[in-house]
Amino acid sequence: MNDSIKQIREEALNALREVPDTGALQSLSTAFLGRKGRVTSFLRNIASLPVEERPKAGQEANRVKKELEAAFEAALEKLASDGTDMTGAIDVTLPGRKPPFGSLHPVTQITRLICGVFERIGFDIAEGPEVESDYYNFEALNIPKDHPARDMQDTFYVSDNVVLRTHTSPIQIRYMTTHTPPVRIIAPGRVYRCDSDLTHTPMFHQVEGLLVDRDISFGDLKGVLTTFIRGVFDANTDIRFRPSFFPFTEPSAELDIRCVICGGKGCNVCSHTGWLEILGCGMVHPAVFENVGYDTRANSGFAFGMGIERIAMLKFGINDLRLFFESDIRFLRQF
Ligand code: DAH
Repeated sequence: MNDSIKQIREEALNALREVPDTGALQSLSTAFLGRKGRVTSFLRNIASLPVEERPKAGQEANRVKKELEAAFEAALEKLASDGTDMTGAIDVTLPGRKPPFGSLHPVTQITRLICGVFERIGFDIAEGPEVESDYYNFEALNIPKDHPARDMQDTFYVSDNVVLRTHTSPIQIRYMTTHTPPVRIIAPGRVYRCDSDLTHTPMFHQVEGLLVDRDISFGDLKGVLTTFIRGVFDANTDIRFRPSFFPFTEPSAELDIRCVICGGKGCNVCSHTGWLEILGCGMVHPAVFENVGYDTRANSGFAFGMGIERIAMLKFGINDLRLFFESDIRFLRQF
């Protein structure tokens, strides 16, 4: 029995000599002096010893307990004062903490995706001003003064002859007046319309395309736009062209793809038609060529334009356009 308390004392003092920090010291103290510690258990067991052994064992155990308490106290003071305690110290071998990374806005991602497909087939990027003259935004595109597209409700007028561009089509005009054919451009940018609901915001993004050369036909238009659609969506996406009207193209068409949400069965997104409108397009109207001084007998070409948010919504399965412009980090972080 006395052997045993001696042994406990030895072990405790040995361990104490090697204790590296206050954390380890705390555990050691619990192991020997805690409620279930070895010294405490020894004291508790004294009652089960033969009566004559009890006083001696009790005295001895209490002496050891006091001695150890003092030794632990001293060890704690030593650790705290000599700087060898490693608790809470900086571990210089840990890798650094990385700052959180942002991500590209979904509109930026889709703009890059679209432009990338066209750049790979030889298109250049072109740009133009967002505050545009009536002439470039409307007149030169064969949109006369009384055209409904000029309605005060749709167009933000800066002054009588200056507007916030309502589409990216004026870039066509600016480019053709400063370059001779052949022309192959893709023109992304912000556009503005006085409109706001689930699928319209006063500012949104479009991409315009224009190709002018000799002997360009509607077949070239179909080939290029099919390549584009299959590059942005699935390689097997079904496509159809529907006759349409734009003042700056003749003939004009709209391109639809098989609904990417329901696969053509019919759903809310495609208004139960099985098809989604993606873009407007057509062969450049001779009046437009005349406005920029291109020879209409030597040149022909096609143009197209589309909303970028609409494509982003379809690709990412987003149902409210306004989410793009609320800058909610919880939304944006998902892309
Ligand atoms: N500018 C048209 C719009 O905003 C889109 C468009 C349609 C552009 C046909 C084109 C085109 O170049 O050929 O709705």
